[in-house]
Amino acid sequence: MKNCKRNILITGGAGFIGSHVVRLFVTRYPEYHIINLDKLTYAGNLANLKDIESALNYTFVKADICDFELLEELMKKYKIDGIIHLAAESHVDRSIKDPFTFAKTNVMGTLSLLQAARSYWEALPEKYEGKMFYHISTDEVYGALELNIPEGDSETNKCGGGPFGDRFFKETNSYNPHSPYSASKASSDHFVRSFHDTYGMPTIVTNCSNNYGPCQFPEKLIPLFINNIILRKPLPVYGKGENVRDWLYVVDHAKAIDIIFHKGKIAETYNIGGSNEWKNIDLIKVLIKVTDKLLGRTECEDLDLITYVTDRAGHDLRYAIDSTKLKTELGWEPSLQFEEGIEKTVRWYLDNQEWLDHVISGDYQKYYEQMYQGR
Ligand code: NAD
Ligand code: DAU
Repeated sequence: MKNCKRNILITGGAGFIGSHVVRLFVTRYPEYHIINLDKLTYAGNLANLKDIESALNYTFVKADICDFELLEELMKKYKIDGIIHLAAESHVDRSIKDPFTFAKTNVMGTLSLLQAARSYWEALPEKYEGKMFYHISTDEVYGALELNIPEGDSETNKCGGGPFGDRFFKETNSYNPHSPYSASKASSDHFVRSFHDTYGMPTIVTNCSNNYGPCQFPEKLIPLFINNIILRKPLPVYGKGENVRDWLYVVDHAKAIDIIFHKGKIAETYNIGGSNEWKNIDLIKVLIKVTDKLLGRTECEDLDLITYVTDRAGHDLRYAIDSTKLKTELGWEPSLQFEEGIEKTVRWYLDNQEWLDHVISGDYQKYYEQMYQGR
């Protein structure tokens, strides 16, 4: 479908991953009209998109994915033929405190969007021809893997890069979510697939591992800890810091989304991961080392900020993605080595202290509240 005009709705485009996806599509496909729909919750920040906000092929709409009538209007108004759905409540700790909001946004919001797309597309003469509903999901729906280092590899695998076990999440794994967040994402994935199976809607679902990079809200491990190291505040490590996550640079996720949106097979699932497993405690030590170096402090002088705290309830031990399908069928590869990606990330937060301060103080929200008052 490249080089023809398309009207693509990207939801959650003011958030962390969404802003990188919006930027990539706006700059790479000037022939497309990109409509970014975002409610601007605490996690949405239009400052993430300052550089492209006046592009001719870009429109921002402040809206809630739970507002079915408005979604129906927008589908018609912008003649949407492709949807990339990222809008969600995304933080596990918040889901433990407030599961209702997660069910509302992630389940009911996704269902509203599916129904609005269905009602618009089914009324067109060509119906679902040339349409796409692409749902962005998470590896957390698969549950947790064990930590068991394969025989003979124990020495090389003690630090980062992994693997830390002989099992990986494959597209064929059954779902086994543990947190209210992952349960809500699992439910939304099921709804998306049901719309393909029941109504014939062209859908794709992808399940990605942990992202890191610029513009991530500083409640998540990496930006929270970078900020705390800068300010010399304690670094709250859950449990013993033994949990393992598979980290992927956010721009590589955005590039995977681009490839899958254009070349992915309808009704398929693709797993996306960095093949880059780190125990939290090892990752945190790397973060301290890199941040101290870039701040001109003595290397690792902030190790004593590490503070072990009560573990997260239901804390999944290990996530690790097998991306073989995406690599072999669609030719995707992550472009950035972890060492390079993490240094780039720390440097971005140091160079964008104002962004960090605004997000932490909530000032950016007051600004948008005024701007959108009464709309
Ligand atoms: P984020 O929390 O940074 O951004 C979410 C965005 O959605 C925000 O801009 C927010 O304003 C918007 N939003 C929330 N509720 C909304 C609503 N009701 N209506 C409209 N907009 C709403 O999240 P993220 O980390 O960028 O994640 C984006 C998507 O990718 C999510 O679906 C998440 O489950 C998935 N994902 C994230 C990761 C990760 O590591 N961050 C990994 C895999 C999958
Ligand atoms: O795996 C993909 C998922 O990755 C996404 O679907 C989620 O949206 C995203 O938030 C992320 O979930 P995690 O729970 O893995 O990310 P988080 O940054 O919250 O935590 C990473 C690890 O660090 C996890 O094992 C918990 C731990 N942690 C986290 C925080 C915030 C700490 O030890 N201390 C902390 O303060």
